[in-house]
Amino acid sequence: MDALENLMTRRSIRRFTDQPVAEADIATLFHAAMAAPSAGNSQPWHFVRISDRAILNQLPDIQPHSRMMLGASLAILVCADVTLEKHEGFWVQDCSAATQNILLAAHALGLGAVWCGLHPRTAWCEGVSRLLNLPHHVQPLSLVAVGYPLDAKDPAERFKSERIHINRW
Ligand SMILES: Cc1cc2nc3c(=O)[nH]c(=O)nc-3n(C[C@H](O)[C@H](O)[C@H](O)COP(=O)(O)O)c2cc1C
Repeated sequence: MDALENLMTRRSIRRFTDQPVAEADIATLFHAAMAAPSAGNSQPWHFVRISDRAILNQLPDIQPHSRMMLGASLAILVCADVTLEKHEGFWVQDCSAATQNILLAAHALGLGAVWCGLHPRTAWCEGVSRLLNLPHHVQPLSLVAVGYPLDAKDPAERFKSERIHINRW
């Protein structure tokens, strides 16, 4: 699958088989995440790899739109050590780029994944920080559920030429 086909056919997958994700594939997901661009090349990201069933099962109690975690064998928390930032506040974009790279790498590997947002919902961020014991200088951005897909989804067509403005709005 070439890069354009990969990003044009990626969809959110929320139902997974019970099969644990292969170690080599998990390593590729983290390599892809850390290949992302970041402001000032500060790379402020950290990741929490979650496969503990008791922890996965608690995530929907904190983030109510993450019930797929109950059937996922792996979740990745994408977060930032804000003390590593060179340009204050850009950690959100940095971690978003890392999150998207995880989604695209998962799709390229034949895995399914879905981005579950945490930031800027304070209560969800606080809940996840408590559950995963994050230090105060670490801010969570997203949780990504990952697994072998049970759903097959067609590509989405979202192109709208009217959203493109030439030189001025
Ligand atoms: C910032 C962000 C937060 C999201 N949060 C959730 C979420 O909490 N739960 C969920 O099931 N999907 C979540 N999604 C996935 C979107 O619902 C999904 O990307 C969108 O419906 C488009 O579908 P597609 O990913 O299959 O193309 C999120 C996506 C983004 C970018």
